[in-house]
Amino acid sequence: DIYPTAKDGSKAVAQEIAALIKARQATNKNVVLGLATGSTPKYLYAELVRLHREEGLSFKNVITFNLDEYYPIEPDALQSYNRFMKEQLFNHIDIPEENTHVPDGTIPKEKVKEFAAEYEAKIEAAGGIDLQILGIGTNGHIGFNEPGSALTSHTRLVTLDNSTRMANAFEFSNMSLVPRLAITMGLNTIFKAKRVVLLAWGSHKSKIVQRSVEGHSSDQVPASLLQQHSDCKFVIDEQAAEDL
Ligand code: GLP
Repeated sequence: DIYPTAKDGSKAVAQEIAALIKARQATNKNVVLGLATGSTPKYLYAELVRLHREEGLSFKNVITFNLDEYYPIEPDALQSYNRFMKEQLFNHIDIPEENTHVPDGTIPKEKVKEFAAEYEAKIEAAGGIDLQILGIGTNGHIGFNEPGSALTSHTRLVTLDNSTRMANAFEFSNMSLVPRLAITMGLNTIFKAKRVVLLAWGSHKSKIVQRSVEGHSSDQVPASLLQQHSDCKFVIDEQAAEDL
């Protein structure tokens, strides 16, 4: 779907999430959301906070799993996705803290595999992800699944592409401080979500959106693999749609 602005697109997705939460509340069931970080979902989270404050939308029946986190990183570091989620969303809504999950960037390296397997098991135990929100890197990455990631990949430790480190360098005081590794849900983890909504705003995303939607589905552009998902939608603004 193409909207005039990022705010319009974000509001529409917030409405979809609110409708899902309310439908589940009516039958006393939980909703499991897969969440993303980066600049892209900021308006969406601001709109969810507004719906909570102004319209009383409750998140007590919501369970969340975030896509990724830098590795290693302390949860209170400025660039940490754990911190981002608290500041942008969790601190401003009534979601129980134990319902929120963001990969832990402080796990000792030898325990990462175990942590990743537990993360997958927790998603399964919660009933699987109902709705996965994604952003997209300019190289087509989703989560931190860089080009070449396998469709069968699970939550794991990955090496960031140089282009990704450069794109995210603005968050750090210099390039050498950008972590070289990250923990990310795998493509298989993302594909198991019942529904996937990928957000993209701005003309700097227009080329990769075009390749993902109109190009052939290839692991060289991880987001293009979403063409094979049974219920996936791209929500973009007019600028990101320029090359379609
Ligand atoms: C980051 C994140 C992704 C995000 C993407 C785009 O590195 N790991 O989950 O979707 O890159 O970032 P942004 O939304 O800031 O453009």
